[in-house]
Amino acid sequence: MTAGSNNWFERAKRVIPGGVNSPVRAFNAVGGDPLYVVSGAGARIHTEAGRELLDFCGSWGPLVLGHSHPAVIDAIKQAADKGTSFGINTPREVEFAERLCEMAGIEKVRLVNSGTEATMTAVRLARGATGRSKIIKFAGCYHGHSDGLLVAAGSGLMTGGVTSSAGVSDAVAAEVFVPEYNDLDAVIAIVEAHGDELAAIILEPIAANMGLVLPDAGFLEGLRAAADRCGAILIFDEVITGFRLGPTTYASQCGVSPDLICLGKIIGGGLPIGAVGGRAAVMDHLAPLGEVYQAGTLSGNPVAVAAGLTTLHLLASEPPYARMAALAARLADETNAAAQAAGIPLHVAVKESLFTPFFSDSPIHNYTDAKGCDTKRHAAFFHAMLDAGIYLPPSQFEVGFVNAAHTDVDIDQFVSAATAGLP
Ligand SMILES: Cc1ncc(COP(=O)(O)O)c(C=O)c1O
Repeated sequence: MTAGSNNWFERAKRVIPGGVNSPVRAFNAVGGDPLYVVSGAGARIHTEAGRELLDFCGSWGPLVLGHSHPAVIDAIKQAADKGTSFGINTPREVEFAERLCEMAGIEKVRLVNSGTEATMTAVRLARGATGRSKIIKFAGCYHGHSDGLLVAAGSGLMTGGVTSSAGVSDAVAAEVFVPEYNDLDAVIAIVEAHGDELAAIILEPIAANMGLVLPDAGFLEGLRAAADRCGAILIFDEVITGFRLGPTTYASQCGVSPDLICLGKIIGGGLPIGAVGGRAAVMDHLAPLGEVYQAGTLSGNPVAVAAGLTTLHLLASEPPYARMAALAARLADETNAAAQAAGIPLHVAVKESLFTPFFSDSPIHNYTDAKGCDTKRHAAFFHAMLDAGIYLPPSQFEVGFVNAAHTDVDIDQFVSAATAGLP
C-alpha cells in the first residue's frame, strides 16, 4: 500500500521522526508504507487515497462503539461549545469519577491523559505507599513508555531486567524483575528472595501486547497471594481490558481484586484520557492528600470526559458485549477451519471481542511462544487482508478488536478475505 497523491508519508518523514507520531503506526513489522486516514464511520475508515477499509484495529481499542458514534460526537460538540479546557475543576469530571468508581468497582480514581501516565502513576504510587523500589513486570506485557516500564528480561531472573529502549538507564532497569507471563513459580521465587524490596507486581490480566495471551487458571489468584505475602501492591493494567469484556473491569469479572487498576482507551470514547484507581488507602497517598506527586494541565479535560461519560452510559444501557463476542468467535472459528483445511499453521486466539491470528501451530502462553510465530507469514497475511479491504493491526504482537459497529456481513467479509489470503 503506498501513500496517495499528496505523498503524505514522504512529507511526514521530513518533519516527523519516521513519519509517524507513534511507532506502531509505521509498517515496520509488515513492510510497506503506512496508511493516512481522513475519516471513519461505524466499522469503516477512509484513506486519503480514496479507499474504504473495514477496520479491526479500532484506534487500538478505544472505539468499542465504532468510529464517529453519533451520541459520542454530539457529547463532544456540546462540551466543546462550552469551552475546551479550564484547568479548574468541573462538575462533569466529578460525575465521571463517580460513574467510573461505581462501574469499575474501585473506591477512588485520578484522571490522567493517557495509559502511559496511568501506569507510570500507579508504579510511583506503589513505591510511595510501600517505601520500596523494586517491581515485577512480565515479559511481553506493555504498559506504555515510561522509563521504568520499558524493561525486558535480562540474563537471569534475579538480576533484574535490561532496558528495552535507548535512553532508559541501567539503574532503572535493575529495579525491575521480568519473569515470563504465566510463570507463577518464577514470581514466587522472586518474592522469596526479594519480597521485602518489592513495591509492586504489574501486569495485563489478559495480555494483549504480545498478541492475545490469557492468564492460566490460578495465575491471577497466585499473584494476589504472592503480593499479599510480601506486602507489594498488585496493579492490573486494564488500559485494553477495562470496559472491553463487559461494562466494568476484568478484575470485577475474574474475581481477583488488585490494589490499583490502570484504565485508558475506552473510557475516553476516542479522546485522550487515562485513569488510575483502586483502594482509597493506597490512592490517598497521591498529592495533595499524600506525598506522591502527580499532576496534569489537561487532566479531567471536559471534552474527553464528556466523550467518556457518554461511552460508559451507552455500554451500560445497551451492552454490546454478547454480540461482539459472538461475532469474534465466528471470525476465529471460521478462519481457523479454513487454515486447518489448507494446512496453514495459523490459529486465531480469541477472548470475547479480542483476537489475534497467530502464525503458529501451538497455543501461545507467553512471550517466548509468541516470538516463535512466523512473522513473515503474518506480514503476507496482513497485506493480503489490506488488499482485500480489511485493516488489521500491523504486527503479529497485537490484538484485533471487534467493535459494536461490526455486523455478521463484516465477519463474512473477514473470513472470505482470510480464506483467500492465507499465505
Ligand atoms: C495495556 C496497555 N497499557 C498501557 C498502554 C499505554 O497507553 P497509551 O498509549 O494511552 O499511553 C497501552 C497502549 O497500548 C496498553 O495496551
